[in-house]
Amino acid sequence: MSTRQSTAGAFIALERDPRIEELLGRMTLAEKIGQMSQVESPGQPLPEDFLQALRAGRIGAVLNEVDVEAVNELQRIAVQESRLGIPLLVGRDVIHGFRTIFPIPLGQAASWNPELVRNAARVAAAEAATAGINWTFAPMLDVTRDPRWGRIAESLGEDPCLAGRLGAAMVEGFQGDDLAGPAALAACAKHFAGYGACESGRDYNTTNIPESELRNVHLRPFRAALDSGARTVMTSFSDLNGIPASANEFLLRRVLREEWAFDGFVVSDWASIGELRIHGLTASDRESALAAAAAGVNMEMASTTYRDHLAGLVEAGMLDEVTIDDLVMAILQVKFDLGLFQRPSRRPGKLPSPACEEHLSAAREAALQSAVLLKNDKSVLPLAAEAIERVAVIGPLADAPYEQLGTWVFDGDPALSVTPLAAIRERLGDERVSRVQAMETSRSRSRARFEAAKRAVESADVAILFIGEESILSGEAHSRADIGLPGNQAQLVRELRTTGKPVVAVVLAGRPLTLGDIVDDVDAILYAWHPGTMAGPAIADLLFGSESPSGKLPVTFPRMVGQVPIYYAQKNTGRPPAPDRIVHIDDIDALAPQTSLGMTAFHLDAGFEPLWPFGYGLSYTTFEYADLELSAALMTGNEPLTVAVTVTNTGRRQGTEVVQLYLRDLVGSLTRPVRELKGFRRVPLEPGQSQRVEFRLTPADLAFHGRDMRLAAEPGDFHVWVGGDSGATLGAAFRFEETD
Ligand code: GLC
Repeated sequence: MSTRQSTAGAFIALERDPRIEELLGRMTLAEKIGQMSQVESPGQPLPEDFLQALRAGRIGAVLNEVDVEAVNELQRIAVQESRLGIPLLVGRDVIHGFRTIFPIPLGQAASWNPELVRNAARVAAAEAATAGINWTFAPMLDVTRDPRWGRIAESLGEDPCLAGRLGAAMVEGFQGDDLAGPAALAACAKHFAGYGACESGRDYNTTNIPESELRNVHLRPFRAALDSGARTVMTSFSDLNGIPASANEFLLRRVLREEWAFDGFVVSDWASIGELRIHGLTASDRESALAAAAAGVNMEMASTTYRDHLAGLVEAGMLDEVTIDDLVMAILQVKFDLGLFQRPSRRPGKLPSPACEEHLSAAREAALQSAVLLKNDKSVLPLAAEAIERVAVIGPLADAPYEQLGTWVFDGDPALSVTPLAAIRERLGDERVSRVQAMETSRSRSRARFEAAKRAVESADVAILFIGEESILSGEAHSRADIGLPGNQAQLVRELRTTGKPVVAVVLAGRPLTLGDIVDDVDAILYAWHPGTMAGPAIADLLFGSESPSGKLPVTFPRMVGQVPIYYAQKNTGRPPAPDRIVHIDDIDALAPQTSLGMTAFHLDAGFEPLWPFGYGLSYTTFEYADLELSAALMTGNEPLTVAVTVTNTGRRQGTEVVQLYLRDLVGSLTRPVRELKGFRRVPLEPGQSQRVEFRLTPADLAFHGRDMRLAAEPGDFHVWVGGDSGATLGAAFRFEETD
């Protein structure tokens, strides 16, 4: 058993395997520091200095090597040619698939389906393990309310409850029931923490987050992921309230170790320890190494401040070797739990082959459930294939096998992609499909092919228009200040509108786009995100009605970028806008007196509501909510309260509704959001079928970090609503009182 003197002076006893303690006892300081260093694989042939470092035990982990023979050779050298034979961690960004690519995480979040997300991670792990990978840098759990931020694509959206449930499911999918199993990867909850609040949505930018907001919003998904067993955490690049995460003792010691008793290890994000000097937190790499190790970063990725300075810091008495021991123990424990000491090399033959039918089918189901139907005027969808003579497939993203995979796809294979155009041709036959790309890319400004597009639409029954963003326009370092349709796409939409034919827009994008300027020019909008390898079959199934859309937005869609940040769980303010008192800028009378527009919280040119709210999504059928009942009007002590509602499919087609439960705490020691998601469930219903759906609320669901930062439910009045999106109107009230 090892104990640790935490910065707060308290000793935290941790269960460590005695074999780890014995191994540590034999390690030199240089070997310990080796375990704390992760190095990018230099590729084949391995340079001599890299081989020497491996043999000397100066490398504990590698990343970005995906050739299984090369990985097994690295493991062989580390195990057989070094003094202590400690196997390597082999890390890779397996974010939404390895060879078979699933929808981007933001798209998977739109499924509101933990089982589906867990299975996607399981498939990804099985495929990555065939390459010898044993550690993934996922799930990304950054809560963000800023679609300008390119990394919203990797996130699970704006809500800590949804992101927490799905992030925990991803961890379970990656790690499986047995972390030492042949297809398990150690998960990595990232980026700890608050990265999604980067100012102006500009990546790597400063974050200033009050502790209550940090705890009540940004930290919650991380807690959920660690509660589901995530073994590693990655620090974020960002400066949190003046202290970059890689040197932030509050995050890494106070919260992660002392409050949460996290017993895994923390890895820095790419060179973020070296960047402490660039932030201006330290004056040298030596100071950066000291700051990060003292704060509790176990392993340094990519930069070499640990390798260059930790030994000197210990020898100079500036860093206690006990601190090093403690940081190394956690790394050894994870290697041990991964079974690497028994089986350092993966035998890919025992694993399902990447992109096998089972995996492609899982990717298709994920793409199906991720798509969100945002508009469907006059039920133009689903298209009746048998009644259609011809469709015109227009736009730059209908036949883009690489682009449909989305961001963070290092090992995906575009050759496996089935594009929407190919799937539509497969379904209707080439002779019934005319195709005009109309634009070279989403950013093209040329209108040279617009006439051809219009002619194709004029001679077709319907236009299916694929618009949005290529994958490079979202993801890391790819933030946008204007999140409208790039290039001349909006003009293309308007020109196709003049044909008078029905126009169905399918949007492929890595973020919410501001579609306010085209929403009236199309009859239907299916938001498919970047749906991955099986985009085509899934989109065709939805367009032609083999399946009904069931996705719901995991993030709010603004009317215009000036509304950002805009999200459902906002505060009421002292002057909430009254919907009937909003005056639009174009409707203001001349010489309007100063206070004539009402003095409340809205934008003159955008109002205060989004284009589409969090949780919103249409189906090919309709649902009705009725008979909301609470099991009691008073919740006391730890007595749970049940919220029950009847959901009915009132349409003529089968459909799946995501039933959502929202709560409001009317009065708190800190002001509380006007609504917070507290539960959700996918409910499949046949036409005419009703189902009673029950949610269980406990005081833990009411708890928040109040003025004293203690996590507790505060007595008082609460409202609940149940419905198909965050604007649910069917509600009830109850009171919570503590028992003596
Ligand atoms: C990147 C990302 C991080 C990723 C790491 C390794 O810069 O910020 O999410 O896991 O480096 O590729």
